[in-house]
Amino acid sequence: MFWSCIFLLLVAVATASIVPRSHQCGNQSFFTAENGIIRSHAGYDVGHDYGKNWDCVWTIEAPEGKFVELVANTFHLEGSGVSCSYDYLELFDGDSTNDNSIGKFCGSAFAPISSTQQFLTLNFVTDGSHTFRGFELFYNFTDHVIRTCLSGQFTCSNTICVPGSYRCDGADDCGDDSDEKNCQSVTFPTQEIGTFQCANGKYISGRWQCDGDNDCGDGSDEIGCDPACGQNIFNTGITGNISSPNFPYTYPANVNCTYHVTAPKGTQGILFTFDNRFDIEDCRYQLCDFVTVSNAHGTNIHGPFRGQTAPSPFEILGRVADVRFKSDSGTDGRGFMLTWSAIG
Ligand SMILES: *[C@@H]1O[C@H](CO)[C@@H](O)[C@H](O)[C@H]1NC(C)=O
Ligand SMILES: *[C@@H]1O[C@H](CO)[C@@H](O)[C@H](O)[C@H]1NC(C)=O
Ligand SMILES: *[C@@H]1O[C@H](CO)[C@@H](O)[C@H](O)[C@H]1NC(C)=O
Ligand SMILES: *[C@@H]1O[C@H](CO)[C@@H](O)[C@H](O)[C@H]1NC(C)=O
Repeated sequence: MFWSCIFLLLVAVATASIVPRSHQCGNQSFFTAENGIIRSHAGYDVGHDYGKNWDCVWTIEAPEGKFVELVANTFHLEGSGVSCSYDYLELFDGDSTNDNSIGKFCGSAFAPISSTQQFLTLNFVTDGSHTFRGFELFYNFTDHVIRTCLSGQFTCSNTICVPGSYRCDGADDCGDDSDEKNCQSVTFPTQEIGTFQCANGKYISGRWQCDGDNDCGDGSDEIGCDPACGQNIFNTGITGNISSPNFPYTYPANVNCTYHVTAPKGTQGILFTFDNRFDIEDCRYQLCDFVTVSNAHGTNIHGPFRGQTAPSPFEILGRVADVRFKSDSGTDGRGFMLTWSAIG
């Protein structure tokens, strides 16, 4: 009697702890209906938290030419928005977990997102510790790719948005290092060298600009590459100086030079201080020669500066800035020199 009780008890324990995988993950793993709901686990409906050490995979197939969009009705997993090392939902851009990861999601952050092709695969992984309520996701099919970050921004796995130029630059800007994953297609030779955003939105290493190759595919990395501008096109570090060609001697006519400044991560702004020897032809009634300083996106423009009085020091917010110098065919001056330094 005693032994059979123990035996029954063991069977009961075993039955309770070894839940069949199909039951944990719901009984459907492949979805093709034009919209649907995917819940983290079968017990979600009746208010149970998800379990420990789970590994569920679902794949959604859209009709050809469409993308799979995923929107969270609810989303509550262990972990913060920054680290997804405990329980997480990982999305893959394809029909298996071998495809490119779109990101890992945990905590309660899940913004609408879509695949970039026909399939989307979801992988829900839990560890052996705390369990949470789980998620209910709605999916449907769209004809455009959905990312909640603004264009030009990179969507981190934890859904934080960082400037696109922070991607694959050797520093973890997202907090989960997802901006440094899958960098094969956007490999930069050296970190902190600065990136260049092509007119078509692609990012290439700053080193590839003005190298005679059409790296962007649209030629935009080879525009404004006048050898007369000198070698000092890309400036990195915490301080440096930039001057017009030949400074302090007369600058050449008809140049159009852009000098890029990229300061290290964490830089809040860049301070620009012009040397007092400032001499740029001022045509008074029209703009002939000038220097401007702006952020890398051509906004927050200071200048155009010209004449014989050096501008007062000013700051450009952010860690990337462009100094542009242009001269026409007429009488020239000695030009300018400035020192830039990273703040913060
Ligand atoms: C399994 O899927 C069918 C529909 O295919 C559904 O009717 C049924 O309720 C599901 N069972 C469980 C346990 O989720
Ligand atoms: C898909 O669902 C989302 C969220 O409900 C909705 O905003 C969107 O319009 C839907 N897309 C299509 C193509 O129905
Ligand atoms: C000068 O170069 C910039 C880009 O570096 C370009 O946008 C601009 O059109 C050029 N200006 C002239 C007059 O060539
Ligand atoms: C400008 O920078 C160069 C190289 O970084 C340096 O050799 C030079 O001394 C600097 N000039 C001034 C006036 O700071």
